[in-house]
Amino acid sequence: MGKHNLSKNSRKVWAIGGGKGGIGKTLFTANLGVGLAKMGKEVIVVDSDLGGANLHTLLSIKYVKHNLNDYLNNICKIDEVIMPTSIEGLNLISGANGVLGAANPYFLQKIKIINCFKNLKADYIIVDLGAGSSYNVLDFFNAADEKIVIACPEPTSIQNVYGFLKSAIYRKLSRTFSHNPQLKELITYATNPKNGKRVETINELSQCIYDVDKTSHEIFKKTLNDYRPSIIMNMLKNKGEQNSAQGLNLVAKRFLDLEINYLGFLQADPLIPESVKAMTPFMKMRRSEERRVGKECRSRWSP
Ligand SMILES: Nc1ncnc2c1ncn2[C@@H]1O[C@H](COP(=O)(O)OP(=O)(O)O)[C@@H](O)[C@H]1O
Ligand SMILES: [Mg+2]
Repeated sequence: MGKHNLSKNSRKVWAIGGGKGGIGKTLFTANLGVGLAKMGKEVIVVDSDLGGANLHTLLSIKYVKHNLNDYLNNICKIDEVIMPTSIEGLNLISGANGVLGAANPYFLQKIKIINCFKNLKADYIIVDLGAGSSYNVLDFFNAADEKIVIACPEPTSIQNVYGFLKSAIYRKLSRTFSHNPQLKELITYATNPKNGKRVETINELSQCIYDVDKTSHEIFKKTLNDYRPSIIMNMLKNKGEQNSAQGLNLVAKRFLDLEINYLGFLQADPLIPESVKAMTPFMKMRRSEERRVGKECRSRWSP
């Protein structure tokens, strides 16, 4: 394990989510980690996909001695789970690939993992989330200081990201009021599609909560206000495809009262699948390597 400087950075845990599989979460996590490490930061990338870990493969690590599951089961300390990679400053914590039952830790175990991440000595902890909107994924996403979703320009991916953010914000609200059965029930009711659209938007839910209790309403508004996810568009074939993020923004504003921060995009590039096959993050490739692989790709794809 490399040296870690105790960091006072209060926004150091970043989660990379987005609902759907195959949209580039793992790829982005690995390359963001490489990029930050190259800038001299101490970075730990975390594969929190407890059921289907593959971040280590992207970072050319073939053998994982200890994973998060060992830490949860008190088989080892968290320090023993942190593995160095071939990149200076970049370390990895692996999920629990293939361990039966590990894909569904109890809430207290999740809290243990999340608190542990926050206390790790590094500048940035980047958590690659699994696919879907299970409570596991949502709880890790909500606990992060920076919440980043990845989307592709296809309508299904945009729809998926919207569904993911909706589940995440309602989960956050539900946990915020977990001690208050009346409000919890109201929040569950608001997410039920069979409620006859009587509470269709989060603003309508806000009004209902205001009618029940003014103090809780203040907390509700603050929770919403503090909830600022960001988005990265991936696999763009042209710049115009960025517009699909704006459509998502409008819907999220109207129904969830959410402002989504647009961070930028990655274009669809044949070099990327090649870098995955080579088990080398493209941010690590040397120019000569990039040119060679790029040339091979072009000769294969061009007529
Ligand atoms: N910008 C891109 N251009 C081309 N291919 C990409 C791009 N981003 C991702 N891919 C391809 O998509 C595959 C799935 O990416 P991955 O990061 O594993 O998705 P996820 O973690 O969301 O399931 C990668 O193996 C890669 O080949
Ligand atoms: Mg993945």
